[in-house]
Amino acid sequence: MNKNKFTVLDFKRKKESSEKITMLTAYDCTMARILDAGDIDAILVGDSLGMVVLGYESTIPVTMEEMLHHTKAVKRGVTRAFVIADMPFMSYQAADVDGVRNAAKFVKEGGAEAVKLEGGAEIVPRIKAILAAGIPVLGHIGLTPQSVNKLGGYKVQGRSEDSGEKLLKSALLLEEAGVFAIVLECVPKSLARTITKALTIPTIGIGAGADCGGQILVTHDVVGYYDKFKPKFVKQYAKINTAITEAVSSFKHEVETGVFPDDEHSF
Ligand code: KIV
Repeated sequence: MNKNKFTVLDFKRKKESSEKITMLTAYDCTMARILDAGDIDAILVGDSLGMVVLGYESTIPVTMEEMLHHTKAVKRGVTRAFVIADMPFMSYQAADVDGVRNAAKFVKEGGAEAVKLEGGAEIVPRIKAILAAGIPVLGHIGLTPQSVNKLGGYKVQGRSEDSGEKLLKSALLLEEAGVFAIVLECVPKSLARTITKALTIPTIGIGAGADCGGQILVTHDVVGYYDKFKPKFVKQYAKINTAITEAVSSFKHEVETGVFPDDEHSF
């Protein structure tokens, strides 16, 4: 094992030493290798796969087979980062036995070290069942995209006192159930701060301000690859889409004008 391997224990250690945790998504081996070489602590094979790779309108159609396929690919590219597989819609919502069997597939077949589940109090029994099988669980509350139809859209959550208190309660219940960290998606930064302070495990923010124990973003957004829309909380650090468009156009031009392939690129 890589001696710098990031493990489930490092989440708590970083919280205790006030070190920030870095997480990004990956869906294939090449991107996973790049993130791993960049010393990103944890890689989430997110069900955002559905939107940024597979072209679905939401994460709801994503299947276990698709997630498993991409989790295996990511795992092949990683030596240091902690790999977490996102459990897709209806792979755990109906019953404990589904949750445990599907989580086990991610660990046993996919090589993931943990799974992520969306939801609060309602999924506590599911989380406990998966943990009882020896599989670490990452929680996810706030904007939970698999429930977009119930939430009425991709909106900031926890703005009212009532809904904020409900999220704090959910976070405490998830911690008590045994999750090693909680993703807080699209919540006001003051609420994220309150939740972060109330927990002994780290929060990982996405659109939740700077006080969380760590941050996660979708890598396709970070590098400017996914161009359908850019949420307010995303900071684009590169414009890969433009670079690819320019490369494609140069290739087309050079092939059509006989510039490529030249002697340097021929045998
Ligand atoms: O699916 C995903 O990529 C996620 C993160 C953005 C938290 O759930």
